[in-house]
Amino acid sequence: MQIDADGKRIAMVTGSAKGIGRAIALTLARSGVVPVLVDIDGEAAKKVVTEISDEGIETVCFVCDVSNVGEVRRCFADVFDSFGAVDILVNNAGILSTTSITELDEAEWQRVMDINLKSAVFATQAALTYMMPRKWGRIINIASMAGRMGGFDTGCAYSVSKAGMIGLTMRVARRVASEGITVNAIAPGPTNTELVQGFAPEVRKRLIDGIPVGRVIEPERIGETAAFLASDAAEFITGAVIDVNGGMFMG
Ligand SMILES: NC(=O)c1ccc[n+]([C@@H]2O[C@H](COP(=O)([O-])OP(=O)(O)OC[C@H]3O[C@@H](n4cnc5c(N)ncnc54)[C@H](O)[C@@H]3O)[C@@H](O)[C@H]2O)c1
Repeated sequence: MQIDADGKRIAMVTGSAKGIGRAIALTLARSGVVPVLVDIDGEAAKKVVTEISDEGIETVCFVCDVSNVGEVRRCFADVFDSFGAVDILVNNAGILSTTSITELDEAEWQRVMDINLKSAVFATQAALTYMMPRKWGRIINIASMAGRMGGFDTGCAYSVSKAGMIGLTMRVARRVASEGITVNAIAPGPTNTELVQGFAPEVRKRLIDGIPVGRVIEPERIGETAAFLASDAAEFITGAVIDVNGGMFMG
């Protein structure tokens, strides 16, 4: 199926059926980019497609388990067949794990690494095959404050996977810096999505007490940061980690 994007840039956003990914897709659409939704939950993704269509932007969703490298490669090929380009990739899909180092087993470690980190490595690899010939691209990795300072109530594998996203960002940014492609990470603090809404009330209170602005971050703020990094205006920002955490690093 060929979709006419009317000259607009094409952005693949993983994990965009809900939460931060949904907000990124909506914000990109409002900034004049066509967001292509990639999620394991096709039904929820279709609802976001409808929301975006209601704003006058035609798009589609693709069902893909980003932890499966074969599915990721097939998904990129399908998007390229449909739109003729992959200009922007947002590696956002991720799961929370709260298992501590003392309880962690190999299966949990592997599950978190596959969904949170391996997914981004191979999606990045696939994206570069489409971006490098065009000498333009934007890759945005959704890391976390947990990958910067260990996290508070996050588990060991989660924090390690998010620190890995930051290493991936810098390594690939350096590799493609001279090819018109930027690679950056956003490290959100606690953000108002199902992932955090599932925390026990006392944990939420403790989190909020540690945020100088006094509330959790709305996903739209992450969406706007991603839209800026995806724009031409951000051409000189690469290999950076943008902290969107309400001032938590001030202590
Ligand atoms: N919410 C927070 O406080 C917070 C803070 C820092 C970083 N993050 C990161 O932001 C990203 C999004 O988090 P969120 O809070 O919006 O989560 P969420 O649970 O609300 O949404 C995650 C989305 O990813 C999809 N997904 C999960 N596994 C997938 C897979 N294997 N393949 C494809 N899609 C899959 C889900 O279906 C869902 O649509 C994650 O990487 C998370 O680690 C979140």
